[in-house]
Amino acid sequence: MVQSEQTLDTTDAVRNTQSYESGVVSRRGETVMVAGEGCWMIDSEGQRYLDMTSSQGVAMLGYNHPALTTALQEQAGRLHACPNFFHNDTRAAFLQALIAVTPPHMTRAFLANSGAEAIDGAIKFARLATGRTEIVAARNSFHGRTVGALSITWNPKYRRKFQPLLPDVEFVHFNDSDRLDAAVSDRTAAVVLEVIQAEGGVHVGDADFLAAAQRFCRERGALLVIDEVQTGFGRTGRWFGFEHYNLEPDIIALAKGLGGGFPMGAVVYTSEVQESLFSGAHGSTFGGNPLACAAGVAALGVYRDGLIEHAERAGCRLRDALESAIGRRRVVREIRGRGLIIGIDLRTKAVPFLKTLMEEHRVLALPAGSTVLRLLPPLIIGDDEIAIAVEAIASTLPSSA
Ligand SMILES: Cc1ncc(COP(=O)(O)O)c(C=O)c1O
Repeated sequence: MVQSEQTLDTTDAVRNTQSYESGVVSRRGETVMVAGEGCWMIDSEGQRYLDMTSSQGVAMLGYNHPALTTALQEQAGRLHACPNFFHNDTRAAFLQALIAVTPPHMTRAFLANSGAEAIDGAIKFARLATGRTEIVAARNSFHGRTVGALSITWNPKYRRKFQPLLPDVEFVHFNDSDRLDAAVSDRTAAVVLEVIQAEGGVHVGDADFLAAAQRFCRERGALLVIDEVQTGFGRTGRWFGFEHYNLEPDIIALAKGLGGGFPMGAVVYTSEVQESLFSGAHGSTFGGNPLACAAGVAALGVYRDGLIEHAERAGCRLRDALESAIGRRRVVREIRGRGLIIGIDLRTKAVPFLKTLMEEHRVLALPAGSTVLRLLPPLIIGDDEIAIAVEAIASTLPSSA
Protein backbone atom coordinates (compact mmCIF):
# COMPACT_ATOMS: atom_id res chain seq x y z
CA MET A 1 0.00 0.00 0.00
CA VAL A 2 2.66 2.45 1.10
CA GLN A 3 4.71 1.33 -1.84
CA SER A 4 2.00 2.13 -4.36
CA GLU A 5 1.24 5.52 -2.78
CA GLN A 6 4.87 6.42 -3.05
CA THR A 7 4.90 5.32 -6.63
CA LEU A 8 1.85 7.42 -7.36
CA ASP A 9 3.32 10.49 -5.68
CA THR A 10 6.54 10.13 -7.54
CA THR A 11 4.81 9.76 -10.88
CA ASP A 12 2.76 12.90 -10.28
CA ALA A 13 5.78 14.86 -9.15
CA VAL A 14 7.64 13.88 -12.28
CA ARG A 15 4.72 14.80 -14.51
CA ASN A 16 4.28 18.16 -12.79
CA THR A 17 7.94 18.97 -13.08
CA GLN A 18 7.90 18.15 -16.75
CA SER A 19 4.83 20.28 -17.33
CA TYR A 20 6.46 23.23 -15.67
CA GLU A 21 9.78 22.79 -17.39
CA SER A 22 8.79 22.32 -20.96
CA GLY A 23 5.80 24.58 -21.18
CA VAL A 24 3.01 23.71 -23.50
CA VAL A 25 4.50 20.59 -24.95
CA SER A 26 3.88 18.40 -21.96
CA ARG A 27 0.98 20.31 -20.45
CA ARG A 28 -1.12 17.99 -22.51
CA GLY A 29 0.00 15.50 -19.91
CA GLU A 30 -0.90 12.32 -21.73
CA THR A 31 1.89 12.08 -24.26
CA VAL A 32 4.62 9.62 -23.32
CA MET A 33 7.67 9.94 -25.51
CA VAL A 34 9.47 6.65 -25.88
CA ALA A 35 11.81 6.90 -28.85
CA GLY A 36 13.37 9.19 -31.40
CA GLU A 37 14.78 9.01 -34.86
CA GLY A 38 16.46 11.88 -36.66
CA CYS A 39 14.34 15.01 -36.14
CA TRP A 40 11.35 12.99 -34.96
CA MET A 41 10.14 11.96 -31.51
CA ILE A 42 7.86 8.96 -31.22
CA ASP A 43 5.26 8.47 -28.51
CA SER A 44 3.97 5.31 -26.86
CA GLU A 45 1.14 5.11 -29.42
CA GLY A 46 3.64 5.18 -32.29
CA GLN A 47 2.74 8.77 -33.27
CA ARG A 48 5.64 10.74 -34.73
CA TYR A 49 6.30 14.38 -33.84
CA LEU A 50 8.59 16.69 -35.78
CA ASP A 51 10.77 18.07 -33.00
CA MET A 52 11.56 21.70 -33.75
CA THR A 53 12.94 22.05 -30.20
CA SER A 54 15.79 19.47 -30.07
CA SER A 55 14.50 18.64 -26.57
CA GLN A 56 15.08 22.18 -25.32
CA GLY A 57 18.03 22.79 -27.60
CA VAL A 58 20.16 19.79 -26.71
CA ALA A 59 19.63 17.04 -29.31
CA MET A 60 21.57 18.89 -31.99
CA LEU A 61 22.30 15.67 -33.91
CA GLY A 62 18.68 14.59 -33.66
CA TYR A 63 17.79 11.28 -32.04
CA ASN A 64 19.58 7.96 -32.35
CA HIS A 65 22.40 9.44 -34.38
CA PRO A 66 24.72 6.50 -35.16
CA ALA A 67 27.90 8.33 -34.10
CA LEU A 68 26.47 9.31 -30.72
CA THR A 69 24.70 6.02 -30.03
CA THR A 70 27.75 3.93 -30.93
CA ALA A 71 30.08 6.07 -28.83
CA LEU A 72 27.81 5.76 -25.78
CA GLN A 73 27.40 2.02 -26.23
CA GLU A 74 31.10 1.46 -26.65
CA GLN A 75 32.02 3.57 -23.63
CA ALA A 76 29.28 2.01 -21.47
CA GLY A 77 30.77 -1.38 -22.16
CA ARG A 78 34.26 -0.21 -21.19
CA LEU A 79 34.19 2.32 -18.31
CA HIS A 80 31.14 4.32 -17.33
CA ALA A 81 32.60 6.17 -14.32
CA CYS A 82 36.03 7.38 -13.37
CA PRO A 83 36.98 9.79 -10.58
CA ASN A 84 38.64 13.03 -11.51
CA PHE A 85 41.87 12.21 -9.67
CA PHE A 86 42.66 9.61 -12.36
CA HIS A 87 43.47 10.44 -15.93
CA ASN A 88 40.98 8.99 -18.33
CA ASP A 89 41.55 8.46 -22.07
CA THR A 90 38.07 9.53 -23.16
CA ARG A 91 38.08 12.63 -20.96
CA ALA A 92 41.49 13.61 -22.34
CA ALA A 93 40.27 13.10 -25.91
CA PHE A 94 37.20 15.21 -25.20
CA LEU A 95 39.13 18.06 -23.59
CA GLN A 96 41.53 18.10 -26.49
CA ALA A 97 38.66 18.20 -29.00
CA LEU A 98 36.87 20.93 -27.05
CA ILE A 99 39.89 23.19 -26.72
CA ALA A 100 40.59 22.69 -30.44
CA VAL A 101 37.25 24.29 -31.35
CA THR A 102 37.29 27.19 -28.88
CA PRO A 103 39.32 30.34 -29.68
CA PRO A 104 43.11 30.00 -29.33
CA HIS A 105 43.29 32.33 -26.30
CA MET A 106 41.02 29.97 -24.34
CA THR A 107 43.10 27.03 -23.24
CA ARG A 108 41.41 25.75 -20.09
CA ALA A 109 38.19 23.89 -19.41
CA PHE A 110 36.29 22.78 -16.34
CA LEU A 111 33.74 20.03 -16.93
CA ALA A 112 30.33 20.15 -15.27
CA ASN A 113 26.92 18.60 -15.88
CA SER A 114 24.57 21.38 -16.95
CA GLY A 115 24.31 24.94 -18.14
CA ALA A 116 23.52 26.39 -14.72
CA GLU A 117 26.54 24.65 -13.25
CA ALA A 118 28.72 26.06 -16.00
CA ILE A 119 27.41 29.55 -15.16
CA ASP A 120 28.03 29.02 -11.45
CA GLY A 121 31.59 27.98 -12.26
CA ALA A 122 32.02 31.07 -14.43
CA ILE A 123 30.82 33.34 -11.59
CA LYS A 124 33.24 31.74 -9.14
CA PHE A 125 36.16 31.92 -11.55
CA ALA A 126 35.45 35.59 -12.35
CA ARG A 127 35.34 36.43 -8.65
CA LEU A 128 38.64 34.69 -8.02
CA ALA A 129 40.38 36.12 -11.08
CA THR A 130 39.40 39.72 -10.28
CA GLY A 131 39.09 39.66 -6.49
CA ARG A 132 35.76 41.46 -7.00
CA THR A 133 32.15 40.45 -6.46
CA GLU A 134 29.93 42.62 -8.66
CA ILE A 135 28.29 41.12 -11.73
CA VAL A 136 26.56 43.04 -14.48
CA ALA A 137 23.95 41.05 -16.40
CA ALA A 138 21.15 41.95 -18.78
CA ARG A 139 17.43 42.39 -18.36
CA ASN A 140 15.62 39.47 -20.02
CA SER A 141 18.62 37.22 -19.45
CA PHE A 142 18.28 33.53 -18.65
CA HIS A 143 21.26 31.71 -17.19
CA GLY A 144 19.70 28.85 -15.23
CA ARG A 145 18.10 28.02 -11.91
CA THR A 146 20.81 27.15 -9.43
CA VAL A 147 21.18 29.88 -6.82
CA GLY A 148 24.22 31.37 -8.57
CA ALA A 149 22.77 31.24 -12.07
CA LEU A 150 19.38 32.45 -10.83
CA SER A 151 21.05 35.48 -9.28
CA ILE A 152 21.97 36.73 -12.75
CA THR A 153 18.73 35.54 -14.42
CA TRP A 154 16.44 38.49 -14.84
CA ASN A 155 12.85 37.23 -14.91
CA PRO A 156 11.23 37.96 -11.52
CA LYS A 157 8.96 34.94 -12.03
CA TYR A 158 11.94 32.65 -11.46
CA ARG A 159 13.63 34.75 -8.76
CA ARG A 160 10.90 36.15 -6.56
CA LYS A 161 10.44 33.23 -4.16
CA PHE A 162 14.15 32.64 -3.68
CA GLN A 163 15.38 35.96 -2.40
CA PRO A 164 17.88 36.80 -1.13
CA LEU A 165 20.04 35.60 -3.99
CA LEU A 166 23.68 36.59 -4.58
CA PRO A 167 24.27 40.26 -3.77
CA ASP A 168 26.02 42.77 -6.06
CA VAL A 169 24.19 41.96 -9.30
CA GLU A 170 23.04 44.79 -11.55
CA PHE A 171 20.80 44.28 -14.58
CA VAL A 172 21.06 46.67 -17.53
CA HIS A 173 18.90 46.87 -20.64
CA PHE A 174 20.16 44.50 -23.33
CA ASN A 175 21.62 46.39 -26.30
CA ASP A 176 21.87 49.66 -24.34
CA SER A 177 25.55 50.57 -24.31
CA ASP A 178 25.05 53.76 -22.29
CA ARG A 179 23.46 51.91 -19.38
CA LEU A 180 26.16 49.30 -19.57
CA ASP A 181 28.79 52.01 -19.51
CA ALA A 182 27.25 53.41 -16.34
CA ALA A 183 27.06 49.99 -14.69
CA VAL A 184 30.56 48.59 -15.31
CA SER A 185 33.13 49.94 -12.86
CA ASP A 186 36.40 49.01 -11.19
CA ARG A 187 34.31 46.92 -8.78
CA THR A 188 32.86 44.74 -11.54
CA ALA A 189 34.09 41.15 -11.61
CA ALA A 190 32.26 40.21 -14.81
CA VAL A 191 29.77 41.24 -17.42
CA VAL A 192 27.74 38.12 -18.22
CA LEU A 193 25.77 38.13 -21.48
CA GLU A 194 24.08 35.88 -24.00
CA VAL A 195 24.76 37.03 -27.57
CA ILE A 196 21.19 36.01 -28.39
CA GLN A 197 18.83 36.13 -25.46
CA ALA A 198 17.09 32.85 -26.07
CA GLU A 199 14.57 32.13 -23.29
CA GLY A 200 14.07 35.89 -22.93
CA GLY A 201 12.45 36.11 -26.39
CA VAL A 202 15.14 35.44 -29.03
CA HIS A 203 16.62 38.95 -28.93
CA VAL A 204 19.77 39.22 -31.03
CA GLY A 205 22.63 41.23 -29.54
CA ASP A 206 23.72 44.38 -31.42
CA ALA A 207 27.31 44.34 -32.58
CA ASP A 208 27.92 47.80 -31.07
CA PHE A 209 26.58 46.77 -27.69
CA LEU A 210 28.64 43.60 -27.50
CA ALA A 211 31.79 45.39 -28.69
CA ALA A 212 31.16 48.04 -26.02
CA ALA A 213 30.75 45.32 -23.39
CA GLN A 214 34.15 43.91 -24.27
CA ARG A 215 35.73 47.38 -24.32
CA PHE A 216 34.30 48.36 -20.91
CA CYS A 217 35.51 45.06 -19.45
CA ARG A 218 39.04 45.57 -20.78
CA GLU A 219 39.21 49.22 -19.67
CA ARG A 220 37.90 48.51 -16.17
CA GLY A 221 39.52 45.18 -15.37
CA ALA A 222 36.33 43.10 -15.48
CA LEU A 223 35.95 39.78 -17.30
CA LEU A 224 33.65 39.23 -20.25
CA VAL A 225 31.64 36.05 -19.71
CA ILE A 226 29.56 34.84 -22.64
CA ASP A 227 26.80 32.33 -21.98
CA GLU A 228 26.85 30.03 -25.02
CA VAL A 229 24.69 27.37 -23.39
CA GLN A 230 21.92 27.75 -25.97
CA THR A 231 23.86 29.37 -28.83
CA GLY A 232 26.94 27.13 -28.87
CA PHE A 233 27.88 24.29 -31.20
CA GLY A 234 26.44 25.49 -34.47
CA ARG A 235 23.04 26.64 -33.26
CA THR A 236 23.65 30.08 -34.85
CA GLY A 237 25.50 28.72 -37.90
CA ARG A 238 28.95 29.16 -36.33
CA TRP A 239 30.63 27.14 -33.62
CA PHE A 240 29.78 29.83 -31.07
CA GLY A 241 27.45 32.79 -31.22
CA PHE A 242 30.17 35.25 -30.19
CA GLU A 243 32.08 34.46 -33.40
CA HIS A 244 29.53 36.55 -35.32
CA TYR A 245 30.84 39.53 -33.35
CA ASN A 246 34.58 38.84 -33.26
CA LEU A 247 34.51 38.91 -29.48
CA GLU A 248 37.27 37.53 -27.32
CA PRO A 249 35.53 36.52 -24.10
CA ASP A 250 37.55 35.60 -21.02
CA ILE A 251 35.14 32.83 -20.04
CA ILE A 252 32.41 30.95 -21.90
CA ALA A 253 29.73 28.73 -20.40
CA LEU A 254 28.69 25.70 -22.44
CA ALA A 255 26.13 22.89 -22.15
CA LYS A 256 23.13 21.71 -24.24
CA GLY A 257 24.77 20.74 -27.58
CA LEU A 258 28.12 20.01 -25.93
CA GLY A 259 27.31 16.32 -25.53
CA GLY A 260 24.79 16.16 -28.40
CA GLY A 261 22.06 15.92 -25.77
CA PHE A 262 23.91 13.86 -23.19
CA PRO A 263 24.00 15.91 -19.98
CA MET A 264 27.20 17.85 -19.64
CA GLY A 265 28.40 21.41 -19.20
CA ALA A 266 31.73 23.19 -19.37
CA VAL A 267 33.42 26.43 -18.44
CA VAL A 268 36.14 27.32 -20.93
CA TYR A 269 38.52 30.11 -19.98
CA THR A 270 41.95 31.68 -20.37
CA SER A 271 45.22 30.73 -18.71
CA GLU A 272 45.10 34.10 -16.86
CA VAL A 273 41.88 32.99 -15.17
CA GLN A 274 43.48 29.63 -14.41
CA GLU A 275 46.29 31.34 -12.48
CA SER A 276 43.86 32.53 -9.82
CA LEU A 277 42.31 29.11 -9.15
CA PHE A 278 43.59 27.37 -6.06
CA SER A 279 43.42 23.65 -5.44
CA GLY A 280 39.87 22.80 -4.40
CA ALA A 281 38.46 26.10 -5.70
CA HIS A 282 35.90 24.19 -7.69
CA GLY A 283 34.97 20.61 -8.39
CA SER A 284 32.29 18.17 -9.46
CA THR A 285 31.86 14.46 -8.83
CA PHE A 286 30.13 13.74 -12.12
CA GLY A 287 31.78 16.44 -14.24
CA GLY A 288 33.97 14.81 -16.89
CA ASN A 289 32.19 11.49 -16.64
CA PRO A 290 33.53 9.13 -19.35
CA LEU A 291 30.08 8.49 -20.86
CA ALA A 292 29.44 12.22 -21.17
CA CYS A 293 32.92 12.72 -22.61
CA ALA A 294 32.38 9.91 -25.14
CA ALA A 295 29.16 11.61 -26.20
CA GLY A 296 31.05 14.90 -26.41
CA VAL A 297 33.83 13.46 -28.59
CA ALA A 298 31.22 11.99 -30.94
CA ALA A 299 29.14 15.18 -31.08
CA LEU A 300 32.13 17.44 -31.68
CA GLY A 301 33.24 15.09 -34.47
CA VAL A 302 29.87 15.38 -36.22
CA TYR A 303 29.82 19.17 -35.83
CA ARG A 304 33.33 19.32 -37.31
CA ASP A 305 32.34 17.14 -40.25
CA GLY A 306 30.17 19.81 -41.85
CA LEU A 307 27.11 19.93 -39.62
CA ILE A 308 27.67 23.55 -38.64
CA GLU A 309 27.83 24.67 -42.28
CA HIS A 310 24.69 22.64 -42.89
CA ALA A 311 23.01 24.38 -39.95
CA GLU A 312 23.85 27.77 -41.37
CA ARG A 313 22.31 26.89 -44.74
CA ALA A 314 19.30 25.20 -43.15
CA GLY A 315 18.78 28.24 -40.91
CA CYS A 316 18.66 30.53 -43.97
CA ARG A 317 16.20 28.24 -45.73
CA LEU A 318 13.95 27.97 -42.68
CA ARG A 319 14.00 31.71 -42.10
CA ASP A 320 13.29 32.51 -45.77
CA ALA A 321 10.46 29.97 -45.90
CA LEU A 322 8.91 31.44 -42.75
CA GLU A 323 9.25 34.99 -44.04
CA SER A 324 7.46 34.13 -47.26
CA ALA A 325 4.77 31.96 -45.62
CA ILE A 326 3.86 34.13 -42.62
CA GLY A 327 6.13 37.20 -42.56
CA ARG A 328 3.39 39.58 -43.74
CA ARG A 329 0.61 38.29 -41.54
CA ARG A 330 -0.84 40.71 -39.03
CA VAL A 331 -0.33 38.31 -36.14
CA VAL A 332 3.43 38.24 -36.78
CA ARG A 333 5.27 41.20 -35.32
CA GLU A 334 8.74 40.02 -36.33
CA ILE A 335 10.75 36.93 -37.22
CA ARG A 336 14.23 37.10 -35.74
CA GLY A 337 17.20 34.98 -34.78
CA ARG A 338 20.29 33.57 -36.40
CA GLY A 339 20.98 30.17 -37.90
CA LEU A 340 18.71 27.59 -36.32
CA ILE A 341 17.49 29.65 -33.40
CA ILE A 342 14.45 31.48 -34.69
CA GLY A 343 11.81 33.42 -32.79
CA ILE A 344 8.45 34.29 -34.32
CA ASP A 345 7.26 37.25 -32.27
CA LEU A 346 3.47 37.36 -32.29
CA ARG A 347 1.04 40.13 -31.45
CA THR A 348 -0.64 37.69 -29.08
CA LYS A 349 0.29 34.88 -26.70
CA ALA A 350 2.29 32.04 -28.26
CA VAL A 351 1.16 29.16 -26.04
CA PRO A 352 -2.23 28.40 -27.70
CA PHE A 353 -0.49 28.11 -31.07
CA LEU A 354 2.14 25.77 -29.64
CA LYS A 355 -0.66 23.58 -28.40
CA THR A 356 -2.36 23.49 -31.81
CA LEU A 357 0.96 22.79 -33.52
CA MET A 358 1.49 19.78 -31.33
CA GLU A 359 -2.04 18.44 -31.16
CA GLU A 360 -3.15 19.01 -34.74
CA HIS A 361 0.10 18.95 -36.70
CA ARG A 362 2.43 16.94 -34.45
CA VAL A 363 5.07 19.63 -34.63
CA LEU A 364 6.87 20.57 -31.42
CA ALA A 365 7.96 24.15 -30.76
CA LEU A 366 8.83 26.20 -27.68
CA PRO A 367 7.77 29.49 -26.16
CA ALA A 368 10.30 32.25 -25.40
CA GLY A 369 8.76 34.95 -23.29
CA SER A 370 5.00 35.17 -23.62
CA THR A 371 4.57 36.10 -27.29
CA VAL A 372 7.44 34.35 -29.04
CA LEU A 373 7.19 30.98 -30.72
CA ARG A 374 10.75 29.62 -30.71
CA LEU A 375 12.25 27.10 -33.10
CA LEU A 376 15.43 25.24 -32.14
CA PRO A 377 15.44 22.24 -34.50
CA PRO A 378 18.18 19.65 -34.58
CA LEU A 379 21.04 20.86 -36.79
CA ILE A 380 20.51 17.87 -39.09
CA ILE A 381 17.13 19.20 -40.24
CA GLY A 382 16.51 18.68 -43.96
CA ASP A 383 14.44 20.49 -46.57
CA ASP A 384 11.46 18.15 -46.25
CA GLU A 385 11.26 18.73 -42.53
CA ILE A 386 11.59 22.48 -42.98
CA ALA A 387 8.67 22.35 -45.41
CA ILE A 388 6.53 20.33 -42.97
CA ALA A 389 7.26 22.72 -40.08
CA VAL A 390 6.59 25.85 -42.11
CA GLU A 391 3.35 24.49 -43.51
CA ALA A 392 2.18 23.53 -40.02
CA ILE A 393 3.04 26.95 -38.62
CA ALA A 394 1.36 28.67 -41.58
CA SER A 395 -1.84 26.73 -41.08
CA THR A 396 -1.79 27.28 -37.31
CA LEU A 397 -1.36 31.08 -37.29
CA PRO A 398 -4.32 33.25 -38.34
CA SER A 399 -3.95 34.13 -41.99
CA SER A 400 -5.42 37.65 -42.14
CA ALA A 401 -2.83 40.07 -43.55
C1 LIG B 1 21.44 30.66 -22.15
C2 LIG B 1 21.23 29.63 -21.09
N1 LIG B 1 22.06 29.57 -20.03
C3 LIG B 1 21.91 28.65 -19.07
C4 LIG B 1 20.88 27.74 -19.11
C5 LIG B 1 20.73 26.71 -18.01
O1 LIG B 1 21.06 25.47 -18.50
P1 LIG B 1 20.59 24.15 -17.72
O2 LIG B 1 19.12 24.07 -17.87
O3 LIG B 1 21.33 23.04 -18.42
O4 LIG B 1 21.01 24.31 -16.31
C6 LIG B 1 19.99 27.75 -20.18
C7 LIG B 1 18.87 26.81 -20.24
O5 LIG B 1 17.97 26.90 -21.02
C8 LIG B 1 20.17 28.73 -21.20
O6 LIG B 1 19.33 28.81 -22.24
